[in-house]
Amino acid sequence: MYEMGKAEIDAVIKVLKSKQFMRYRGGEGGFTETFERDLCAKFNISHALTVNSGTSALICALAAMGVGPGDEVIVPAYTWVASALAPLAVGAVPVMADINETMTIDPADIERKITKYTKAIIPVHMTNLACDMNAIMKIAKKHKLLVCEDACQAAGVSYKGKRLGTIGHTGAYSFNQFKNITCGEGGAVVTNDDRTYERSLMYHDAGAFTRNYASSVKEPFFPGVNYRVSEILGAILGEQLKRLDGILAKLQARRKIMVDIFAGTDKFKVVEHNDEANAVGLDIIFDSPKKALAFKEKHKIGLLIESGRHVYTNWEPLLEQRSFHPKMNPFNWTQRKIVYTQDMCKDTLEILSRSMNIGIPYGMNKKDVKACAKKLIA
Ligand SMILES: Cc1ncc(COP(=O)(O)O)c(C=O)c1O
Repeated sequence: MYEMGKAEIDAVIKVLKSKQFMRYRGGEGGFTETFERDLCAKFNISHALTVNSGTSALICALAAMGVGPGDEVIVPAYTWVASALAPLAVGAVPVMADINETMTIDPADIERKITKYTKAIIPVHMTNLACDMNAIMKIAKKHKLLVCEDACQAAGVSYKGKRLGTIGHTGAYSFNQFKNITCGEGGAVVTNDDRTYERSLMYHDAGAFTRNYASSVKEPFFPGVNYRVSEILGAILGEQLKRLDGILAKLQARRKIMVDIFAGTDKFKVVEHNDEANAVGLDIIFDSPKKALAFKEKHKIGLLIESGRHVYTNWEPLLEQRSFHPKMNPFNWTQRKIVYTQDMCKDTLEILSRSMNIGIPYGMNKKDVKACAKKLIA
């Protein structure tokens, strides 16, 4: 959470006073619908659907794209576990691919992991660092694969003139408390494809076939779940969206100050961004784990390998291929045996063992940011 204030409080009060909390009871033009329209306009995308989390957004996007049992989905070995679990929720299985030194999925390893059963790729834009989307979309086109961008950690960040999340066939955002904009818990699916949008509407709302828009939907409704959000969340997100570009600009300005100062050291390198002009996230990488450890000791900044839950080796329920019910286990429906091992993505472990995320000091004035960066290279 970077900013939250009076505008959000006033918006919530408006919803509370209206006594209209559900988006589909208030007719047209509710808070959630307005947020979605504004998101589409800002991100230059045809459709946006608000859901109750980033995890729900990923699952909804995969379901809407028709990913299902027997399909393999390529995901990075370094991400929040939800990116890897989302395929399981639609009956597919994840196949982990290495990252490269951009801290995002390595397009070369995506190609190596493609089998005749691969249906989709989930590139993840970790800590506001953009994946190499040009290369990924080229691979997807060549192999006729679908792409669901996990932009949960990068809402609003641009890549070569487009907002992350709007380049693949679908994109997923998280609005949980730690994200660029937040409503506590929330998410959104975006797409330019009308059919995918209609299918995401169906999946996210068990009552979709009863809603006002139902008569205009072209495909028969299938049963969905409930990922709907309340108008309270829609109202907060509407105000947060107005702040988004300002938040990103402030992060970028502080990042640039730090990167310019870091240019004066040979202790570490700033992780290369796939679109430097729009870079927001800031990771650093050392020549060796030994140098990274010495830096860690001095400055008390954890290594990425220590981020635990973001590293595939710690995803025990997935690595053990468990399910809530044996007959619903997607690993029973694969078209080849899927084997997970602790060392299946060695490059990822090696890279993470000598790199760190530098949290950009958002709340600091520029003078203090400079001092903070200088201290890190002293
Ligand atoms: C990369 C990534 N994907 C997906 C998610 C899931 O988002 P949520 O926590 O809103 O379900 C997160 C959340 O931390 C994330 O960081």
